[in-house]
Amino acid sequence: MINIAILGLGTVGGGVAEVVEKNQNEIKKSLGDNLHVKYILDIRDIPGVVKDINVIVNDPDVKVICETMGGKEPAYTYTHLALEHGISVCTSNKELVDAHGVELSEIARAHNCSYLFEASVGGGIPILRSLRESCGHEKISYIAGILNGTCNYILTNMKAGKDFNTALKEAQEKGFAERNPAADVEGHDTARKIAILASLVSGKKFSYEQVNCEGITKITQDDFVEAERNKMSIKLLGVYDAENNSVNVAPYLIPENHILYGVNDVFNGIFVKGNQIDNLMFYGRGAGKLPTASAVVSDVIECAKNIGRNVNNNFVDLPLAEVNKIPENNSGFKFRVLN
Ligand code: HSE
Repeated sequence: MINIAILGLGTVGGGVAEVVEKNQNEIKKSLGDNLHVKYILDIRDIPGVVKDINVIVNDPDVKVICETMGGKEPAYTYTHLALEHGISVCTSNKELVDAHGVELSEIARAHNCSYLFEASVGGGIPILRSLRESCGHEKISYIAGILNGTCNYILTNMKAGKDFNTALKEAQEKGFAERNPAADVEGHDTARKIAILASLVSGKKFSYEQVNCEGITKITQDDFVEAERNKMSIKLLGVYDAENNSVNVAPYLIPENHILYGVNDVFNGIFVKGNQIDNLMFYGRGAGKLPTASAVVSDVIECAKNIGRNVNNNFVDLPLAEVNKIPENNSGFKFRVLN
């Protein structure tokens, strides 16, 4: 039996406990062993939870920690401490991965444990593992992704006539949105995710601050009417273009014949171009308790299969990327057109 701990009993943390319990048989089949949640840490007074991280990191039985707290602190301090104790950490925390992912990955390597973050991009979509394992030998030239479930849910509902605030409220009620939903609707969450993807495939560290970022708050009902008239949909995209060395986040018009056109509701779609494999498309639930938790558990299993070893996550020894400005919008429309 492999003992694990969960830091933060919010939407994703609660989901991890549920997935571990409900999919015991499948986990055993994949890992060859059972997972057992020995500790849950939370700052709130919840029966059975611990509040002191030292209890967890000083217990030699704990082999993997799931950091599902979100935000930079105390997640950074706790992750640092766990990795220094040789305990692998799996996280859904894109803010922390973007800000400190390289440093934490290098600490993991130095202590023969792992730092994995599948759930930080694309919710339940196994995008990071696919890119670093199945496509590790590919030269990735381009990524265009619908990477924020909340924004896509809002845009899909606005297209159907609902107003922005009602759609946002629903996304919050469904557990899709960030604690501060400005991170979703202003595009910052998408910026972190496209920066993580660009870093993973390019061998250079792109950071959120380098992303040219525009959110969805200026989109009006008239824009949907105009888009529909031109047989296009409006989606918030994160785009990485290796040729131009650029990363940007903005609302795009997606022509009807593009595979991202029909990615709706909370679903994410990530379109990738490799030099040998050509076009790839990843699709799945981009937010929500169980899909995101499932991605965390996939990392826990990989860490548990590699106890005492470091799993290369493509996030070590990355020099800072030099980023170019994105070309002007010459489409003749209010938004860029995806081609
Ligand atoms: N708020 C995020 C989203 C959660 O809506 O996509 C998943 O990262």
